[in-house]
Order: sequence, then structure tokens, then C-alpha cells
Amino acid sequence: MKLYAISDLHVEHEINRNALEALSPYPDDWLIVAGDVCTAEHYFRWTLDILTQRFAKVIWVPGNHELWTEKQESNGFRGEAKYQHWVGLCRNYGVLTPEDPYVVWPHATSQVRHIIAPLFLLYDYTFRPPQITADQAIPWAAESGVMCVDEYRLKPEPYSSKIEWCHARLAATELRLKEVSSQGKLILINHFPLRYDLVRLKRIPRFSIWCGTQWTEHWHTQFPVDVVVTGHLHMRATDYRDGVRFEEVSLGYPKHWTQERGVAWYLREILPGPATHPENAGPQWHR
Ligand SMILES: [Fe+2]
Ligand SMILES: [Fe+2]
Repeated sequence: MKLYAISDLHVEHEINRNALEALSPYPDDWLIVAGDVCTAEHYFRWTLDILTQRFAKVIWVPGNHELWTEKQESNGFRGEAKYQHWVGLCRNYGVLTPEDPYVVWPHATSQVRHIIAPLFLLYDYTFRPPQITADQAIPWAAESGVMCVDEYRLKPEPYSSKIEWCHARLAATELRLKEVSSQGKLILINHFPLRYDLVRLKRIPRFSIWCGTQWTEHWHTQFPVDVVVTGHLHMRATDYRDGVRFEEVSLGYPKHWTQERGVAWYLREILPGPATHPENAGPQWHR
């Protein structure tokens, strides 16, 4: 019985849909889907339908793509309302979301009790060098030819900004994590990376401002964390910081993965996972 993770399925791409459909059943295992499934609701339902047939339990957190408001959308969900709408869709399929109570992994193989915590934290543009101020962040990125589509499509309503929405999520999540801190080791799941040093975007380094928040830099030691699962970067890797395992589990657009391998190759084993956690080992890339 295993806990697997993947993210950034981007099923608007037919190649990704076909590959997902070809995935064999894992009737005893659970799957984490760490955001960026798609933007369109019908594809999201299609994906939940497939995944809940393949796995015993599915856990989802939103990516930025799920939160986009498309021009042609007639229902007009924006910001928090759009997020809550997707949470409702998940509930129809029995899929766990950040709005549900954290769950205990039921298949412990050792004395460790794992608590699975799906999070929705967003970003606040603080993954930037110290000399760049908050007001300069977006112009600084734009100066290098980089602009995230979120600036046009990710609406923060009812919050006045994505920063405000992000900070509200962070404050509420911190309280929830404190509450469960004495109950076991945490598996944190978030679409965006929790640490700036794990955002390694050589070609577009200034895209980092859309990748997370410095607020979570020390959460892996502040709370009893065993593994942090994230996506968004489309750069698969395993890293260790202070003995905590960080898994970037993106599939990505068709150009980001090797179709001959199938989706199964890209399912990252989170639990039981490797027997040892090396201290601050270098990155292991999963190309
Ligand atoms: Fe993505
Ligand atoms: Fe993303």
C-alpha cells in the first residue's frame, strides 16, 4: 500500500489525457494530485472520474491553472468562489481537498504516524532578491521578458490582491498545522514550492516571484514535517533540507516528459518512500 504523488497533469493536452487514461489501476494505493490539473471544469471532472477509478483515495490541492477565470466561462466564478466550486466538485467524487480535515495515513509500516495535510497557500511575490522591493517585483520580472498569465487570469476576489489572499491562507493554515503538530509526522502538499532555494529556473529565474512565499521557508523545521510534496515548476526533483524530503512531482506539458514511459513512471512514491533521509543531499533530478 503506497502513497503516490503527481502534479501538473495539464489534461487540456490530448497526449496527457491519453496517457492518464492508459494508467493501470492501483486499487490499494492513494494518489496526491498537487495542482494544475486543468482550467476547464469538464476536464477536471473527467480527471477525477479517471483517478478515482484507478486509486483507492485521491487528494487534490489547487494549482494556479485551476484558479484561472476564462473569458468564455458563463458561470463567472472568480477567485475564492472559483476555488470553492472546485472543492465542491472534489467532494462529489470523494476527493480530499485543503478544506477537509487532515487524514492519518492508514497503512503505517513503522511506528511513525503520518498525517496528510493538503494545503492551498498561493504566492506573494517574495521569492525575489532582497534588493527588489514588493512594488518592483512584477516590473523586475517583466524587464527580463517574463510575465505570468496569472496576472490576467487569476482573480483574487473577494480579496483585494493575491498577496492578501495568500496571507489569509497562510495564517489560517499555520493555525491548523499547530493543532496537529503533536499528533504525528506531516506530509505537506502544496502546488507551489515552500522554499525559494528550490525554485531553480535557469532560463527564466525571475519567474520565481510567481512560485511561492518566503513565509513558508522554515515550515519544514517549524512543524514536524517528514515530506513536502509540490509541483508548479515542471522540474521533477527530490531534495533534502534539514533531513526533510522535498518532492517536486510535476508531469507537465507533453514536452516536459517522455511519452514512451507512460504516466506510471512519473508517479513518485511518497510513502513508504526511501528508507533513509540523507542530510542535505544534493538534488536528485527525475528527468
Ligand atoms: Fe503547471
Ligand atoms: Fe502551476
